[in-house]
Amino acid sequence: MQPVALVTGASSGVGEALAPLLAQRGYKVYGMSRREVDLPGVIALPADVSDAEALGRAVAQLMEESGRLDVVLHCAGIGGAGPVEQMPAERAKSIIDTNFWGSWNICQATLPHLRKSDRGRLLLVGSIAGFMGIPFRSAYCASKAALKAMTDSLRMELKGTDLQVAYVAPGDIATNSIATQYRQPVFDLDPIYQARYKKADDGMAENVGHGMSANFVAEEMYKIMEKDELKPYYLIGAFVQKASVKVSRWLPGSWWEKVLGKYYS
Ligand SMILES: NC(=O)c1ccc[n+]([C@@H]2O[C@H](COP(=O)([O-])OP(=O)(O)OC[C@H]3O[C@@H](n4cnc5c(N)ncnc54)[C@H](OP(=O)(O)O)[C@@H]3O)[C@@H](O)[C@H]2O)c1
Repeated sequence: MQPVALVTGASSGVGEALAPLLAQRGYKVYGMSRREVDLPGVIALPADVSDAEALGRAVAQLMEESGRLDVVLHCAGIGGAGPVEQMPAERAKSIIDTNFWGSWNICQATLPHLRKSDRGRLLLVGSIAGFMGIPFRSAYCASKAALKAMTDSLRMELKGTDLQVAYVAPGDIATNSIATQYRQPVFDLDPIYQARYKKADDGMAENVGHGMSANFVAEEMYKIMEKDELKPYYLIGAFVQKASVKVSRWLPGSWWEKVLGKYYS
């Protein structure tokens, strides 16, 4: 039987690299995003992951057509920048709606089917930013930290089933994500934030621009999903970014804050 995979975020970046890769490697692949995808070997399944009903209908269509679901690689996500004090709440909420509630919706819509597979795999894409707060990226960090906690809970809840779940935490990836996300204009902000915000935001854009390729991350995710037993989380990225997760845990909080503060603002 040909295994069936659902890749979300398939219209750009990591998801766009992963969906055709899985098709090449023998999977029947559905590519989900709000925009309809046109990728080799990939069946377009447009839906907004933050809309549970629309997502449910899309997954029902997949099940009607294919009768099974073995792999879900959930890459859909958005970023955004602005200080806690002044970022419009609706902007922050839409990040959390997409990254956290979208992942919740994906779990609710797909787990009943994935659990029936004898080799079910669910990879939820978070971020290294899910392990720490980064200045002016609070809603994004919070959404990915919440997803990490949810993944930890889910893994324990699924104990004894054939479904393996992991949180995948990449560092910077050179995709369009910075160009397409909401970044609060500097001139909107109180002067106490302006210079540090600009430095942090420019630094983030530069790091992402010099980040890993989406193809590299896609290959790494493929290797992860092929493993027999998945660990709770996987870090993908430059040595410094991966090490930052460990160092942030070893260092006293105020020391870590100084290190990160120097880097970002
Ligand atoms: N780029 C980085 O440096 C970086 C670093 C760490 C982690 N990540 C994470 O890695 C994942 C992939 O990032 P990327 O850089 O490849 O992003 P990207 O190029 O901006 O692509 C994001 C994808 O998510 C889809 N998407 C966004 N909102 C959606 C929604 N509500 N419903 C359905 N699909 C939605 C987009 O499609 P539509 O707009 O067509 O819906 C697009 O296909 C994200 O979860 C991101 O947070 C990225």
